[in-house]
Amino acid sequence: MRQVKVAIIGHGHLGKWHTQKAQALETCELVAIVEPFNQEQVKEMYPGVKVVSKIDEVMDDIEAVVIVTPTSTHFELVEQCLKEGKHVFCEKPLCSTFEQAQSLEPLIKNLKLQVGHSERCHQAWDEVAPRIKDIKGPRTFKINRFAPFKGRATDVDVVQDLMIHDIDLMLFLLGSQPQAVRSIGHKIRTDKWDHVTSHFLFENGDQAIITSGRNHTKEVRELEVMSADGCIHVDLFTNKISFGTNTQFDDESYVKTHDYEKRDHLYIEQEQFYHSILNDVPEMVTYDDGKKAVYYVSKVLQSLVSGSEIDV
Ligand SMILES: NC(=O)c1ccc[n+]([C@@H]2O[C@H](COP(=O)([O-])OP(=O)(O)OC[C@H]3O[C@@H](n4cnc5c(N)ncnc54)[C@H](O)[C@@H]3O)[C@@H](O)[C@H]2O)c1
Repeated sequence: MRQVKVAIIGHGHLGKWHTQKAQALETCELVAIVEPFNQEQVKEMYPGVKVVSKIDEVMDDIEAVVIVTPTSTHFELVEQCLKEGKHVFCEKPLCSTFEQAQSLEPLIKNLKLQVGHSERCHQAWDEVAPRIKDIKGPRTFKINRFAPFKGRATDVDVVQDLMIHDIDLMLFLLGSQPQAVRSIGHKIRTDKWDHVTSHFLFENGDQAIITSGRNHTKEVRELEVMSADGCIHVDLFTNKISFGTNTQFDDESYVKTHDYEKRDHLYIEQEQFYHSILNDVPEMVTYDDGKKAVYYVSKVLQSLVSGSEIDV
């Protein structure tokens, strides 16, 4: 079986997990780990794998990279690797600004560029996505994602760190683009937005309210879609789907809840990335998806700063 020769860039909190997946996948040959710190420890964990400080040192040995460095470094690394003709998997967000995202487009050519919007991997969407699309009439879409302060990803605000997941889910599940956004936010433990609620308005009457927070009292990750058909609720933390309909179920109840399978999101993402390279098929989350998410993040930030509704 042909294997894609890969370097993992960044062996921090998430990079450790990505490295394990790369080593476990048959379609990938883990050639190098690029990490400037704790190199002796990484070498012990992965004997036979090159451990270097800069991607330049192994560029000739690889055909693809998995970028798991802090967000502020993504653009420079993605740009460099594309210019060198390497396929790129980049953790979310693709980059920090919409202008940066646009400037990457001409570099992609026939290369694969996949973005790590891992929340797409929930098995719940296999069942729930078609039901959301089938709803006639306006839908109220709501996602809450918050947790107590963990001190991670403080190089960016909560919009770039957490809300971007849900902006991508909103676009993916509703299948349409918002027209306007209004946001309110608070800076609590850092000098950046730590808790933000954004209200997106759609031409067809849909509305989406996304709240993301990193200084809350509890851990919540949930999605709710309300319509005249009833309620769809997905608990992304406990992996449960509930339906509350406008007609009774056979057992005369109005609410049904069941578990859904917990999946290994990082494994699926990398598996799909190598699959897209080896079989020349589209990536599971494309450059366009990544660019759109960065665009709406920029509009949320604009609405936070201006304190007013922004056309998008
Ligand atoms: N998809 C998800 O659910 C999810 C979850 C967590 C983090 N992330 C994303 O993953 C990325 C990394 O997050 P993290 O929590 O692992 O950060 P982290 O700070 O724990 O790890 C980043 C690592 O990259 C290394 N590094 C920095 N610059 C580098 C460079 N130029 N070359 C090589 N290594 C470099 C650092 O030394 C560090 O070890 C972020 O962009 C974040 O948004 C995604």
